[in-house]
Amino acid sequence: MLKLGVNVDHVATLREARFRGTGHGEPDPVAIALQCEQAGAHGITIHLREDRRHILDKDVHAMRRAIRSRLNLELANTPEIVEIALAARPDIVCLVPENREEITTEGGLDVAAQTESLQTLSTRFKQAGIEVSLFIDPDILQVEASARVGAQFIELHTGAFAEAARLGGPIDRELGRLTAASQRAHALGLQVNAGHGLNYSNLHLLHRVPHLIELNIGHSIVSRAVSVGIQKAVEEMLVLMAGYQG
Ligand code: PXP
Repeated sequence: MLKLGVNVDHVATLREARFRGTGHGEPDPVAIALQCEQAGAHGITIHLREDRRHILDKDVHAMRRAIRSRLNLELANTPEIVEIALAARPDIVCLVPENREEITTEGGLDVAAQTESLQTLSTRFKQAGIEVSLFIDPDILQVEASARVGAQFIELHTGAFAEAARLGGPIDRELGRLTAASQRAHALGLQVNAGHGLNYSNLHLLHRVPHLIELNIGHSIVSRAVSVGIQKAVEEMLVLMAGYQG
């Protein structure tokens, strides 16, 4: 069965849009994560970025205490965040590249260019009992480098596939790249996750890619929640306004 990890970063984005710097506010990503679990999600994903633009340190610790499914913590290889991750003890970390200007994680990690440092980091996490995943483009060289580093998982970047699906571009070529990368990873004993840009329209196409274990999906689910939930929210507010006597 294909598993779903829900990325709740954008719940925190919405909170920070109003309450940044106050240390409180709604919506609470932990409360929303618990609802995702109730709905059947197999895991919760959060990304603690260096600039703390959405998930905050306190969210990581609160999430660890609250959820019962697997916690997947995405992070860049920077000393401060690595120490926080080791202390928070997620079930799995997913190492991603991070660039302050980007809106979201744009490309995969260049594992082949930093094999040694990623090997050291991967060993630290594994010794702490935390599984390691590397977020990479569907590129055979990166898959092979990920196996050398000693990661147990890779997460294939589906951004190019999602863009092809959105724009009517070369979907078969992108699915072919994902398939080849997944097959090579599987042959090397790596477990394969995928994510980025997956949504309610393109998901069915991904069924053609073999060996997938888990999909990490964020924006489209949070966005759908707003779309399907706004009517109830407006109705509830109108009920509160109904008793006004003038
Ligand atoms: N996987 C990784 C490694 C990511 O960085 C992201 C984006 O935060 C996702 C999955 C989820 O992407 P999306 O929000 O487009 O579903």
